[in-house]
Amino acid sequence: MTQCILEIRDLTTRFETTQGVANALDHLSLEIYEGEVIGLVGESGSGKSMTGYSIMGLIEHPGAIVNGSILYRGQDLCALDKEQLRQLRGDRIAMIFQDPMMSLNPVLRIDTQLVETLKAHRGIDHRDAIRRATELLQAMGIPSPEARLRQYPHELSGGMRQRIAIAIALLLEPDLIIADEPTTALDVTIQAQIIHEFQTLIEARGTSVLWITHDLAVASTMADRLAIMYAGQIVERGPANEVLENPAHPYTEGLLRSIPSRNVRGKPLQQIPGSTPSLTHLPPGCPFAPRCERAASICATTPPSQRLSGSRSTQCHFPREVPS
Ligand SMILES: Nc1ncnc2c1ncn2[C@@H]1O[C@H](COP(=O)(O)OP(=O)(O)OP(=O)(O)O)[C@@H](O)[C@H]1O
Ligand code: SF4
Ligand SMILES: [Mg+2]
Repeated sequence: MTQCILEIRDLTTRFETTQGVANALDHLSLEIYEGEVIGLVGESGSGKSMTGYSIMGLIEHPGAIVNGSILYRGQDLCALDKEQLRQLRGDRIAMIFQDPMMSLNPVLRIDTQLVETLKAHRGIDHRDAIRRATELLQAMGIPSPEARLRQYPHELSGGMRQRIAIAIALLLEPDLIIADEPTTALDVTIQAQIIHEFQTLIEARGTSVLWITHDLAVASTMADRLAIMYAGQIVERGPANEVLENPAHPYTEGLLRSIPSRNVRGKPLQQIPGSTPSLTHLPPGCPFAPRCERAASICATTPPSQRLSGSRSTQCHFPREVPS
């Protein structure tokens, strides 16, 4: 049976702001199994990056994890000190950021950045480290990898930098990669190429991925499972194809209607009405209620988590029926 490698339980990540308390993550629970790709999807401000940052121990003042646990192979990451977390980061769990410069050191040549990491974490000699780094850049679709290794980040294009940032995340063959919109800033053709190369590498290595995106279309090309996020909560989850074919939550339906996909072929695209709520002034009960066409008075109370068919669930008073 596939093993659960990361288990987030009841996690609340909170920001104290001048406007009040904002729960960027509100009692969020999520499991990630060995070798699976989870698409974490939601509009801007829904808490996708904060999920990744919480796992990586990167939440900084005025933010803090105030409730819950994050178990990596049974070990609670929230209980680790800074040095233990630093060891784990990059080695067993790595993150790719939307801005590749968050992973790259601007004053070091690419070879130094890759080779020193390999030497420090894997204790291999310089020649072996160069060979491994070259192979990885090649696998990430980087032409003339030997020449690229001798360059500085500022000498490379945005797409090339992101390929190298992805290579850095893959370098130590971590169990889990958190990819936070790594291709969003790139043009569509380069985006598709990078996704293809990344997918080939993670499939070969059996790496688990939390693929963070606001774009359900991109998530659907990558993910085995989807977790749909709204106002710090996961409102629907399940196998990607089932969620896409038969969404149960009105928010998932709204996201689907707003992308060109087979579900809406021939019909005009529709944006979800309204905008994402301020986390400091959420309505009582369901946070999606002000934008929901199915809202009723009971929606002013917290919607229960409802198990649908198989491994699917949703948090809604009136979920759409899905085939069993
Ligand atoms: N430094 C901060 N101070 C106060 N609130 C913050 C801070 N950083 C994040 N938040 C809160 O956390 C919420 C979630 O932010 P997060 O960055 O996770 O959103 P996201 O889903 O990644 O959005 P995007 O698609 O724009 O990247 C924000 O709506 C905001 O209310
Ligand atoms: S709980 Fe009510 S308001 Fe919230 S999504 Fe479901 S139907 Fe809409
Ligand atoms: Mg983000």
